[in-house]
Amino acid sequence: MTHPILIAPSLLSADFANLATEVASVEAAGADWLHLDVMDGQFVPAITFGPALIKSLRPHSQLFFDAHLMIVQPERYIPDFVKAGADLVTVHAEACPHLHRTLAQIRELGAEAGVALNPSTPLSAVAHVLDMVDLILIMTVNPGFGGQRFISSLLPKIAEARAMIDASGYAIELQVDGGVSPDTIGAVVRAGATCLVAGSAVFGQPDRADAVARLRERASVLV
Ligand code: DX5
Ligand code: ZN
Repeated sequence: MTHPILIAPSLLSADFANLATEVASVEAAGADWLHLDVMDGQFVPAITFGPALIKSLRPHSQLFFDAHLMIVQPERYIPDFVKAGADLVTVHAEACPHLHRTLAQIRELGAEAGVALNPSTPLSAVAHVLDMVDLILIMTVNPGFGGQRFISSLLPKIAEARAMIDASGYAIELQVDGGVSPDTIGAVVRAGATCLVAGSAVFGQPDRADAVARLRERASVLV
């Protein structure tokens, strides 16, 4: 495999009372990205944090900041997230009636653009925006909470997304989010994912270096 696997720990499972230390711990552990789950209590039931927190963390980390917006009307807040220091902003296709315009807005502001799909949303929702995205996120749990069980019936969707990306010729990262663990990561990578979000499997573990190393090791087991 020529494409390196990216590990993106999700801050959702971190100790919110010690965020700078928590982020430093996964950076030292060799994580590639920091996944920032933004929830508004409307698109998903839970509420987490917004741009102010991302802005506060930005000077404390060199990690690539990957903001996953689980919010309605994300176009209202995209400038705030980019200004706060998000390197990539991912919006949900289900939250964007004008997805093409919203993705263009992200890129025009100088960030990378991602689009996420809930488990029940078909891949056809992104078929006509492949030239507009740097990342496609396949949710393998229903978004809203960390620590949920991986929905294995979505493995064929990951493989279909891989085929769609390869056929397009565009350099699009294929991210998978939800229930990624040492037990599931092998199948996810074999299906074609290149970027793995892990909440409870990294921030939920006491030894973050060991947690990241275990994920990488299991991602490369090809049986
Ligand atoms: C779920 C979030 C995920 C979550 C993953 O709505 O988008 O990023 O933090 O947590 P785990 O890895 O524990 O399933
Ligand atoms: Zn997420």
